[in-house]
This record gives sequence, C-alpha cells and structure tokens, in this order.
Amino acid sequence: MTTNRVQIFDTTLRDGEQSPGASMNVEEKVAIARQLEQLNVDVIEAGFAASSEGDYDSVRHVAETVTRPIVLSLSRTKEGDIERAIRAVEKAKRPGVHIFIATSDIHLNHKLMMSRQEVLDAAGWAVGYAKKRLDYVEFSAEDASRSDGDYLVQVFGEVIKAGAVTLNVPDTTGYALPEQFGELFRFLIASTPGGDGVCWSAHCHNDLGMAVANSLAAVKAGARQIECTVNGLGERAGNTSMEEVVMALKTRSDFFGLVTGVVTEQIYPASRLVSQITGIAIPINKPIVGENAFAHEAGIHQDGVLKNKITYEIMRPETVGLAANRLVLGKHSGRHAFVDRLRELGIAAQDMDMNKAFERFKALADKKKSVYDEDLMAIVAEETVRVPDRYELTYLNVTSSSEVVPQATVRVRVDGAERTQHATGDGMVDACYKAIAKATGTHCKLERYAVKGITGGTDAQGEVSCLVREDELTATGQGAHTDIIMASALAFLNALNKIEYRKRYAARVRVEGP
Ligand code: KIV
Ligand code: ZN
Repeated sequence: MTTNRVQIFDTTLRDGEQSPGASMNVEEKVAIARQLEQLNVDVIEAGFAASSEGDYDSVRHVAETVTRPIVLSLSRTKEGDIERAIRAVEKAKRPGVHIFIATSDIHLNHKLMMSRQEVLDAAGWAVGYAKKRLDYVEFSAEDASRSDGDYLVQVFGEVIKAGAVTLNVPDTTGYALPEQFGELFRFLIASTPGGDGVCWSAHCHNDLGMAVANSLAAVKAGARQIECTVNGLGERAGNTSMEEVVMALKTRSDFFGLVTGVVTEQIYPASRLVSQITGIAIPINKPIVGENAFAHEAGIHQDGVLKNKITYEIMRPETVGLAANRLVLGKHSGRHAFVDRLRELGIAAQDMDMNKAFERFKALADKKKSVYDEDLMAIVAEETVRVPDRYELTYLNVTSSSEVVPQATVRVRVDGAERTQHATGDGMVDACYKAIAKATGTHCKLERYAVKGITGGTDAQGEVSCLVREDELTATGQGAHTDIIMASALAFLNALNKIEYRKRYAARVRVEGP
C-alpha cells in the first residue's frame, strides 16, 4: 500500500487497560473514546467483547458514541468470540473486528497446544467467518516477532485470501530490535501473496524500551498503521506511546516523509485525562507530556531559549496542547471566561456537569489567587467521569502534632443519611481513611496512594490519586484540593463510590443481561 498517511490505531481501552490497576468503567471508557475522537485517531480498539460483560458493554457504548474512527473489538479465532465482537460493534458508524491467534512455536507448543496447520486453518476460517458479516477485518499474528518468517508469510497469505484488510505484526513480548523489526516488515511485505494491497501494522510492547523505535522502524519499512496507547499505557512496561510516535513522525517529517491525522493540540488533554482516570501518573521526564518535557533548567539553555527558542526546542509546547500562557483565571472570572478557557484547552463539555465544575472553580479561586490551566484540567477530569455518588463527605476534622496520635472525625452522607465517625491512625491520612471506612462500612484495601502538587507555590492544589481493592474489584480515585488531607479524603471516597458503582453495575448486568 503506497500512501504517506500512517493510521493511528489506539488501543488504550484494550491493551492499555491490561496495565495493572488501570481498569476503567464504561463511563470512563466513553470519556476517553470521545477524547480519542477529538485527537482524530483512525481506529479505536474499544475492548475485548468476549472477555467479560463489562468489556462487551464498554465496546457497545463506545461504538454508539463516536462517529469518525473505526471502532473494533478484539476477538480470538472462536465463533462465539467473533459473534460477540460483531454484536458489540454493530451500532458503530464504522465497525470492525480484530482477530488474533499466536504464530510462534513457543506459543503453539506451550500455550495453544496446536500444530502450525491447525493455527493456519483457524486463522483463515475466523477471518473468512467475520468477513461475511463485516468489511473491516484486521488480523494479528500474536508473538509475530518470535515467529518463523516463512510460516508468517503462509498465515498472512491465508488471511489476505480470506479478506483481512489490515495485517498486524505484534512484538508481543517487547523482544524485537529496530533494525531487525524493520527487516521483518520488508520481508513480509515483499513475500506475502497479496501483501501489496493491504495495510501493514506494527504493535509493539516496551519491555526493552524499544516500542517507539520499533514502530518507527516498521513504518520506515512500509507499515502504514501504528498501534499505540495514550501515555504508553499497557501491560508490563506498556505499549508504544501514541504521543511519542505521532510527534516523532511530525517533528522528523524531513526523514520519514509521512503524516498522521492526529490533531496534536489534543495530545496533552488526552494524556491528562487518561492519567486522571487510571490513576497512573505521568513520569515528569516522559517525552512530550511529562512535566519537564519543555522545561529548561540549565542557565545556558535558558539563555539560548530566551534569545531564540530554536536553540534548544525541537517542538513547541503549544503544538501538543500545552498552553503557552498558563495563568488564566482568578476569583473575578465569570462562567463565560471559564467555559471559553476550557474550549481553548480543547475540553468538550458534553461529559461534564458544567454547573458543578464551575462551582468548584469558584471555590478554588476563593482559596487560591491564580487558577492555572493545570488546576482547571484537574477539576474537569474529576467532573468528567463522575459516577453517581453514594458517599459524600460533609465534614472533616483532622488533628496531629509531634506529641499526640493523629485523629480524624468525618461526617459522610450515605444514601442521604449522615454518619459521623472518629478514628486514630499512624498519620493524618491513615486516621482519616480509617474514619471514612467506619462511616461508610466499607473494607477496602488501599493499594496505591500518591500525592503531587498541581502547580508550584504553597497555595497550590494537591492532587491525590489512590487505588483501592475490594476482593477482585479495584478502582482508582482522584481528589484535588488546596488541603492535601481533604484531597486524600476526596480521592478515597471517589474510589469507594466507584467500587460501589461497579458492584451495582455488575448486579444489574447479571439480572438484566448486557
Ligand atoms: O501484544 C499483542 O500481541 C496483542 C495482540 C492481541 C494484538 O495485544
Ligand atoms: Zn499487545
């Protein structure tokens, strides 16, 4: 396929969600899908419909929500899986199915217990079966980078005959090296019968820190789709980072001569939203979206940048959606200014209770002289995917000193009735969480807790993110406040509300069916 356009296939909602502790509910997935549509990605892999009722429902909702990108569900080569995937995407404007089976001898012998012939037959049969119902069928040869090249040619040739339009070559274990991976693409494209009429795709994992380099080597060798996730989210060390490949192709278009359709100004809002929803922080030195990605510390660098940005900046922060002017609003700013600024930041209002968000902005502006874009994004991210709250904090009093044991009193509204509880703890957060657990009658385990300052200064908001577990259910919670104990309490209650919501949702699905 000769085109200079590289398709961006986003799998944040499927492979990204496989990242430990990153599970998302339907509303959260829909909010991310909306943001992916704003980014203008070409394909959204919304989930693996046959894997659970929750996944099926998420794929269905995403399919009904977005209109421009192709919406896919992953599927094994089994009839039941394919049927489920097709049903889940049937309301999509542009539906598709993504069928995979492993092709390496390691997987055949130790996982699938199938012969090469059986895998070849299963792949051809499954693609043919799906193709009778849907036009857009992608096929992936799992563990392709450790598979025998000639066998891959055979499998890919078979699925092309059966109607696959996109052929994906995953480096499932993150084992490949750029030169070798590029070579594999050259070989496959040249040797597979019908290989010049389909779109070749790279799907890389980052176990050796090579996912972006391998994906770029693949497109240099003729691939025209990259599968990636926002913030490089994903199992183990993650997947190819969407923002890094997109900006590498854009910044070095002199070398690649390729383009994507991504609206790069939407990168930063997408990155923040995904981090906020999953509770997985972005490392400060992460390329493109990390806090320090555009910060110049060394005097010699600052001097150069002041004279001319081109001395040390290869990309402009505005290009990825980082506002040049971060100081935005204060306590005299009205609703109009608030909504306008959100629009400028590329934040759509449809998922959000705008009245609540504006109320929170006013409360913050009262406490804090200057409200920055980062503050606004924290408010918006919290209000965007709010699940109905069963528990609401109405009072918090925490005391501590070097002499006394930390103590907390909380009042929580539970289903409309107020409950007050008191607890002591190892520290103020511990005391506060114990009091909240008593008041809500919950027994969740706190598995992760992180706090960071959203902006500089002692009046900055603290942003707390936590992960809680109740048996097999996990949920992340977020809270932002100028008082970090209050932010901690809000984050904990947010997570407890999500756990509660998931329990009710699971019960509803069991009774009503998906
Ligand atoms: O890494 C992988 O091999 C995958 C496939 C299912 C595409 O995620
Ligand atoms: Zn993968």
